[in-house]
Amino acid sequence: MRWACLVGGTGSNLRALIDDGAPIRLVISHKAGVGALEIARAAGIPQVVLPARQYPVREEYDAALLRILGEAGIEALVLAGFLRLLSDRVVDTYAGRAVNVHPSLLPAFPGLHAVRQALEYGVRVTGVSVHLVDRGLDSGPIIFQEAVSVRPDDTDETLSSRIHAVEHRLLPRAVRLLDAHRLEVQGRQVVIREE
Ligand code: GAR
Repeated sequence: MRWACLVGGTGSNLRALIDDGAPIRLVISHKAGVGALEIARAAGIPQVVLPARQYPVREEYDAALLRILGEAGIEALVLAGFLRLLSDRVVDTYAGRAVNVHPSLLPAFPGLHAVRQALEYGVRVTGVSVHLVDRGLDSGPIIFQEAVSVRPDDTDETLSSRIHAVEHRLLPRAVRLLDAHRLEVQGRQVVIREE
C-alpha cells in the first residue's frame, strides 16, 4: 500500500519506519521546522506542512488533508507524533488502515503529554500502545502494547527515551502487518495473522 506518515515532532518514529523499509510515500506535518521534516527530506520523501492556523476550522483542515492524501494516492496512514485529532471524515476514509503510536498503556493517559501524565500520577509501570485509529481520542482497537517500568529517578526525558526505543520496535512491526493485510478487527480485538 501507499502510506503517508503524519508527524509533528522530532521524527524518531518516522526514521524507524524508513529504516524498516516501510513504504512511506508522503510525510505531512502539522508543524513547520520539525525534525521529522528534515528526516523526510534526507530520505527523499515528499513532504507537506499543514499548519493548524492555515485552516482554523477542523473540517476545513481535514478537507485539505484529504485532498492532499487523495492526490498522492495514499491508501494507509501512520500517525507518529501528529498531535491533532482527525475529524470523522478522515477517520472513516481510512478506517482499518490508520495506525497511531501513543506513549502510554491505553486507556491510561490518552491525549497530550502522556509521559508527563504518568510521572505526575506516580505509576510504577507505563508503556507504549500501537492502535488503529477510530473516531475517539487514542481509543481505537489495540494492535500492540508493551510495558515500560518507571524508575524512581525518572524524568520526562529519561522515561521518554526508553518509551521511544519500544515505539521504534512496535510501530514498524504494526505497519508491516497492516500493509500485508495480516490484521483483522473483530470488535475491540485485533487478530494478528503471523506468517
Ligand atoms: C511519540 O512518542 C508518540 O508516541 C507521541 O509523539 C511522539 C513523537 O515522537 N504521540 C502522541 O503522544 C500521540 N498522542 P517522534 O516525533 O520522535 O516520532
